[in-house]
Amino acid sequence: MKTLNSYIKQIINETGSRISFYEFMNHALYTPGLGYYSAGSRKFGVEGDFITAPEISPLFSHCIARQCQQILAAIEENGIILEFGAGSGIMAADILQELENLDSLPKKYLILEISADLQQRQRATLEKHVPHLIDRIEWLQQLPETKLQGVILANEVLDAMPVHRFRLDEQDVSEFYVSIEESEFKWQILPTENEELREAVEKLRPNLPVGYISEINLALPAWIQSLPLATGLILLIDYGFPNNEYYHPQRNEGTLMCHYRHQTHDNPLINVGLQDITAHVNFTAIADAAIAANLKVASYTNQANFLLAAGLAPNIDPDDTKAYLQQAQQIKTLVLPSEMGELFKVMALTANFDSPLLGFKYAR
Ligand SMILES: C[S@@+](CC[C@H](N)C(=O)[O-])C[C@H]1O[C@@H](n2cnc3c(N)ncnc32)[C@H](O)[C@@H]1O
Repeated sequence: MKTLNSYIKQIINETGSRISFYEFMNHALYTPGLGYYSAGSRKFGVEGDFITAPEISPLFSHCIARQCQQILAAIEENGIILEFGAGSGIMAADILQELENLDSLPKKYLILEISADLQQRQRATLEKHVPHLIDRIEWLQQLPETKLQGVILANEVLDAMPVHRFRLDEQDVSEFYVSIEESEFKWQILPTENEELREAVEKLRPNLPVGYISEINLALPAWIQSLPLATGLILLIDYGFPNNEYYHPQRNEGTLMCHYRHQTHDNPLINVGLQDITAHVNFTAIADAAIAANLKVASYTNQANFLLAAGLAPNIDPDDTKAYLQQAQQIKTLVLPSEMGELFKVMALTANFDSPLLGFKYAR
């Protein structure tokens, strides 16, 4: 059986002596059957490589559900939820359960997931947790043709999109490529042949020192433009910063990070296919792309403010001391500034929906 290493090496050999890091990241994460997200490894949770907010506690998804309810209630019968990159499927299950409790189920819960393996895992999770709602859930292989009314969700999806890695040189912009040396993947940093990348990085030049290294998601504007929303809310949750913090002169090695068995490091050229590769999200770039796509940038806050505004609170009997303390610990992980509370941000984009949003009442 072909391994991911030999598959990528073959591509490098066939296309010349190198590929861009963008292509490398794309192959490493998403090659069908072999990539990190496309093969069968555990990934999420204590036994995997990293843990996301919906895996920490269902209370996270209950808060998202309450934000969805506000939109679904305004739209009445036809409200739809579309979730991108649904991971293990647990967020979808917990959102549906909470919306059922609130008597606000969407007409359909759509999932767009690029990994066939994760699609199967999501189905198994949803069949186990919400078997009676399975008929409302549909996996899409591509974006719907008509725009929907309702909510579009993406939790920790944008950080998993392939990025270009660049270095700002005195006269030019260099790009990180990946080549093979003595059978190992090795960096090659060469003047970029990608005009779009050169132009985007040149715009950053006035604020950055020569030699500055970082990443950029050039596919983001097209992704935002493609979101099929007629009326309602797009809720994007991820770790990241606005432009001035993202491209801060002191953040001169970028934000690329790999997750392997709960260890983080910055070398994407090892453990290929076995580790997650991510880059932080530039929320200013999302806002700019949204405005260009005729969406309204309705609000922006950090995860702690969002969850507290959306009613995050323990729901376990304090007499059950062990379970209560466990849940208190989970809440701390979600909201403490030293954990996920400050680094993770929530951005709300809207179309034809102007009421103040429940989860953003503490947004500054
Ligand atoms: C870090 S995981 C997060 C999973 C889940 N949302 C959670 O919070 O646990 C990233 C997810 O996004 C999916 N993904 C990445 N790019 C995508 C895209 N362009 N469209 C749809 N899904 C995507 C991955 O396959 C994976 O399910």
